[in-house]
Amino acid sequence: MNAPPTPTPLVDPVSAPSPAPLATLGVKVWLWLLILLTVGVVVWGAVVRITGSGLSIPDWPTIAGSLTPPKSDYGWSQLQETYRAEAERLGKPGFPPDITPEAFRRMFWIEYYHRALAALVGLALVIATVTALRNRTLWHRTGGRFITLFALLIAQAGLGGVVVKGGLQPLMIAAHLITAYIFFGLAINALQAVGLAGKVVPGESKSAGRKPLITVWLLMLITLLQVFTGGLTAGLGGALVANTWPFMFNFLLPPGELILDAKFGGIGANLLHNAVFAQFVHRWLAFLPLVLYVALRLTCSFLPLTKPTRWWMRLTGLLLVAQIVVGILNLLKAAPPNLTALHSTLGLLIFGFISAVAYDLRHNAGLKRIFKPLPPPPPTIQDQLKQQRAASQTQAQTVASMGSDPSYPSAPPASAAASSEAAVAPPPSRPKPPPRPPEPSGPAEWK
Ligand code: HEM
Repeated sequence: MNAPPTPTPLVDPVSAPSPAPLATLGVKVWLWLLILLTVGVVVWGAVVRITGSGLSIPDWPTIAGSLTPPKSDYGWSQLQETYRAEAERLGKPGFPPDITPEAFRRMFWIEYYHRALAALVGLALVIATVTALRNRTLWHRTGGRFITLFALLIAQAGLGGVVVKGGLQPLMIAAHLITAYIFFGLAINALQAVGLAGKVVPGESKSAGRKPLITVWLLMLITLLQVFTGGLTAGLGGALVANTWPFMFNFLLPPGELILDAKFGGIGANLLHNAVFAQFVHRWLAFLPLVLYVALRLTCSFLPLTKPTRWWMRLTGLLLVAQIVVGILNLLKAAPPNLTALHSTLGLLIFGFISAVAYDLRHNAGLKRIFKPLPPPPPTIQDQLKQQRAASQTQAQTVASMGSDPSYPSAPPASAAASSEAAVAPPPSRPKPPPRPPEPSGPAEWK
């Protein structure tokens, strides 16, 4: 078992210049909106793919040169003609070139709302950033994350264009998907950072320890890899091949010749182009995040995690198991729309929870600290002398009162009283200083 890490230093979370509560609330509200909209875009993105609507607006970022949908029947028929030519050129399953105008318009609106939601994500990010920029303390904590979010949004918009212009290539779909996941995780981290603005977290620079941190980062990385192979499986139509589980072509681990195709080339090329191999990797890689999750729980078992961090962790484990069950059902039923949308949503939530745990462990904000009151300061030499003088005075008064009490046979003579005083209370000598109290190593204690 691992030794507990060194306790955090003796500092109460100092309320450094606290950000204005209204500004904090404003940024929080916009970030929450950003997070919800991001969930909406990712889940709606799955609907776009399931319904084959991705090419119904074959242009990007405009719709045949305009930002608004066609206004006349002629405009609609022109757009449908462009779609037909593109679908024919690609010749992919799921993109019937000859569809009714009604079916085309339905697909168009699905893709249009996807783009509209993405635009709202951009707007929410701009407003959240401007609100944070206006407060120095908030910006100090969150600035880096906002800048990264902007960079990712620009990259994501570019990738969206490549996905459309490139005819929905599986690699681009997968890259588009993981960029969205990273964006989502960072938006959650930005929200957590707002909560820490204006606070000095004890031991923040040390984080919760190397092992939990490395494990949670590995978990994030492998989950992203799983999402990437999921995107490839979806983009290649991998849900339509080998719809059995746990056996694939009657094997638990099918031989290479059944899952690899020489016409694509090596293993890497097969992953990018071969639906069977992409699905094979995706179905078995799913268990690695689960193993890493158990490792994370073990490495964190000695840490005094706060309630929210504990809950993020529990939810991650719960959703990981649910995701594997939904993934298997999705495969057995050849990816019906509702299960695929659920699979997409769960994947995103899992990554969001892992990102929250990683942030808490990295910034030491997920650890409980128990603050004990400081021990009283040791008495000074002067205090001790005063105490001794007071004690001898009391004794002298007691002896004097004994002399005046008639119940006593006789009062001792003054000299005797003085000598008895001397006998009872030795003359004050220089007192020994009390032992030094232990170094105040911290009220912050690990439970
Ligand atoms: C940690 C666990 C898992 C994660 C994070 C994950 C994530 C994903 C993601 C993000 C997609 C792409 C969804 C989309 O584009 O709409 C996907 C697709 C898919 N996943 Fe998973 N997955 C996991 C486990 C599994 C398992 C265990 C199976 C089956 C054994 C599975 C089967 C599938 C299938 C068949 C698709 C393609 C769906 C389609 O074509 O619409 N997944 N997965």
